[in-house]
Amino acid sequence: MSRLLSRISGVASSALAICGLTIVAVLTLPGLPPVWHRALGWVLAAIWVFYAVQLGASLRDRRAGGPDGQGPALVVDVLSVVLPVAGMLLPAGSLDPGILCSIWVAKPLRDLAAFRLMLRVVGNERRNLVGVLALFGIILFLAALIAYLLERTDQPEAFGSIPRAMWWAVTTLTTTGYGDAIPHSPAGRMLAGLVMMCGIGVFALWAGILATGFAEELRRQDFTLVWQLVAGVPLFARLPHRDLAEIVRALKPRRAPAGSVICRKGQPGNEMFFILEGRVQVVSAPPVELGPGDYFGEMALVSGEPRFATVVAAAPVSLLVLHISDFQLLIDRDSTLADAIRHTAEERRRSQAAG
Ligand code: CMP
Repeated sequence: MSRLLSRISGVASSALAICGLTIVAVLTLPGLPPVWHRALGWVLAAIWVFYAVQLGASLRDRRAGGPDGQGPALVVDVLSVVLPVAGMLLPAGSLDPGILCSIWVAKPLRDLAAFRLMLRVVGNERRNLVGVLALFGIILFLAALIAYLLERTDQPEAFGSIPRAMWWAVTTLTTTGYGDAIPHSPAGRMLAGLVMMCGIGVFALWAGILATGFAEELRRQDFTLVWQLVAGVPLFARLPHRDLAEIVRALKPRRAPAGSVICRKGQPGNEMFFILEGRVQVVSAPPVELGPGDYFGEMALVSGEPRFATVVAAAPVSLLVLHISDFQLLIDRDSTLADAIRHTAEERRRSQAAG
């Protein structure tokens, strides 16, 4: 399937899922006229046919050696077709067969990059998450046990057994507090306060692990992207992998529209730029054009003086930006690289002076 077609099919599939889920919800309304019931049932059937065709196309793509990593998407496609059919096998009158179409809730998620990112983060952080879950379980059990010991005689309904006290422990630990079970004894109330505070701590831990996981994953994606870009800059071609990794971490991609000023003569300079795509013009006499693979902005960094010239984007330009602090680290580490940059700066200064 071409990229465009698969995009259109993804959008249509999400739109139909929203439509299908709305119908599933409407079908649960009591007193819906039978004619509506039948009509909505036909709409669900039409959506099912679309998904069946989409599944056929996915399977064909897969057999033809389509992109890897589509396993979870295929599982969603298969379930979206199989489960509604299984709904037909439910005993008559037990449940509306359309209810199993609720699996279509996974259809829009399947194409969401953010959802895939979340799955990857949860996968990467599973050990830490399971650790916090275990901590949650231990606190939950201890809270239920102590509440049972303290409150069982006074409130047998809510605290008469550890499983009963568990409900109170869950609502307290998650700081939900429905208020249907409340410890009466002072010791029980102190326990409740402690459990609430533990709950806040446990959820803060969860949030912290997930936030760090997200940041780490995004950084990794950026790293891969910048690595590919850096590989195209001739100046870095002969750098050992260790140094290349350092510079990839330091470089930040930036885009500049045609006509924009990237650096201005006379201003202090704290960045240098590597051109990946497009062209820039150095406003000098005569003007100089630089293109992919060239760099500029090094003179101010090498000399510590203000910018020697204004540089304007002659076309939309894609750059990698190196901050002065990383530039210093880089030239301290690699003398050949430092010499090459200094040599270029010197040559440019001479040509400026000659002009
Ligand atoms: P800098 O002075 O930091 O900022 C302007 C940049 O334009 C400068 O560094 C050089 O990288 C670049 N530049 C200045 N003069 C020339 C030139 N004659 N040829 C190519 N690049 C130049």
